[in-house]
Amino acid sequence: MTNKNHWENVYETKNPDQVSWTQKKPQTSLDFINSFGLKKDAKIIDIGGGDSHLVDFLLHEGYENITVLDISEKALEKAKERLGEKAEKVQWIVTDITEFEPTETYHIWHDRAAFHFLITPEQISKYVEITEKAVSKFMVLGTFSKDGPTKCSGLEITQYDEESMTKKFETSFETIHCITEDHTTPFDTVQNFVFCSFKKK
Ligand SMILES: C[S@@+](CC[C@H](N)C(=O)[O-])C[C@H]1O[C@@H](n2cnc3c(N)ncnc32)[C@H](O)[C@@H]1O
Repeated sequence: MTNKNHWENVYETKNPDQVSWTQKKPQTSLDFINSFGLKKDAKIIDIGGGDSHLVDFLLHEGYENITVLDISEKALEKAKERLGEKAEKVQWIVTDITEFEPTETYHIWHDRAAFHFLITPEQISKYVEITEKAVSKFMVLGTFSKDGPTKCSGLEITQYDEESMTKKFETSFETIHCITEDHTTPFDTVQNFVFCSFKKK
């Protein structure tokens, strides 16, 4: 099964309370995004946003320029359906992140639990290269930590900590702040995440 087929199948067959990553409110992501102190017209992109409610909360807070990117068309369809008319205020991009060819730059790049699926040095370098082109100001990345699971959605992932995440992006980004956090899944298991924020050099 290709990676795209895997994700289309996940979103075709499972609802939010059947997948580990679901959050009622992505508070940590919202706190990091607001910590950058940008105006509501800041351009924000959520990488691997899936059908996460981050976009709903950002719209509710008044952010006007939001893009959600995901490899799964079905995931974005579900998010659009949920948002109804509000979906028209959002840009939606279906692509594998490693093949993303950005046509604009973003003030804030957010990624929770998508970057960690990249496991080969080539995929990871490609992601770093794309962020170097596409991010103009800030980035926030959340992945499983070195105390977290080794797989997500049945797929191998790469675990990070503050040091390894900083090292990956150090050519073009300065790390601002990292935290670790326990996420409680809908099945009451716990997954340790690391989140880091970065400033473009
Ligand atoms: C674990 S889920 C996290 C979803 C969301 N960010 C959240 O926090 O709820 C991973 C998401 O990344 C997407 N994804 C996985 N690999 C991807 C890739 N190579 N390019 C773009 N999106 C990808 C999946 O379709 C899925 O929506």
